[in-house]
Amino acid sequence: ERPDALPRDMEGLHVAVSAGGTREPLDPVRFLGNRSSGRQGFALARVAAQRGARVTLVAAHTADLVPPAGVEVQRVGTAAELREAMHRVAQDARVVVMAAAVADFRPAALAEHKIKKTDRDPDPVRLTRNADILAELVEARRAGQVVVGFAAETGDGETDVLDYGRAKLERKGCDWLVVNAVGDGKAFEVEDNAGWLLSSAGAETPLPHGSKARLASAVWDAVVPACGV
Ligand code: CTP
Ligand code: CA
Repeated sequence: ERPDALPRDMEGLHVAVSAGGTREPLDPVRFLGNRSSGRQGFALARVAAQRGARVTLVAAHTADLVPPAGVEVQRVGTAAELREAMHRVAQDARVVVMAAAVADFRPAALAEHKIKKTDRDPDPVRLTRNADILAELVEARRAGQVVVGFAAETGDGETDVLDYGRAKLERKGCDWLVVNAVGDGKAFEVEDNAGWLLSSAGAETPLPHGSKARLASAVWDAVVPACGV
């Protein structure tokens, strides 16, 4: 979409968006990561700024993306850093979007020195759980604040993507959940997304197959009127 064709309906709104994949260090040179490119979060931030919002983008590892113009970017590495940044930024944000791919687990121990190869198999890597940042942000939600989560789901024959999305919305307690269908070349490392936008009030809006910018616009089209601006 041409930026000058977008409405200026987000003026006066401060939105905080997390994007990209966290990296959990094992030792000074190695980490556990994921394949998130950060493109969807960047698109949400860019479109919000184009529509007049003040935007803070908390960016974990991303593909080689250019930060959107007019957006404040805070770089983070680990889930713990992203957690701290989002809690801080959320204190002042009207809308909080967790588009980041947050590692569910991190290595239980961080080796001070590079783990050396020996002639034996290495010890297994012990993992420990990371905090659920989205659930915490929901817990800390202020009156009038809107919290948006993301879910990338694959159907498995018995339960379809939408059912998993509904269950996750319920479990997380957020106001909106963007459900992306993954597999068939969708979602990871690609330009296009498709899915649904679910609201805690029960609305289920299909998000058409299209660019991540279009998906971002569709998300803001639904969320902004609910912010009462
Ligand atoms: N999320 C989070 N903190 C975590 C894990 C996930 O804030 N430690 C957020 C993601 O940013 C996303 C939402 O929670 O907005 C859903 O993430 P997802 O990985 O789909 O859900 P999980 O609850 O981690 O469940 P699972 O990975 O088992 O499907
Ligand atoms: Ca997860």
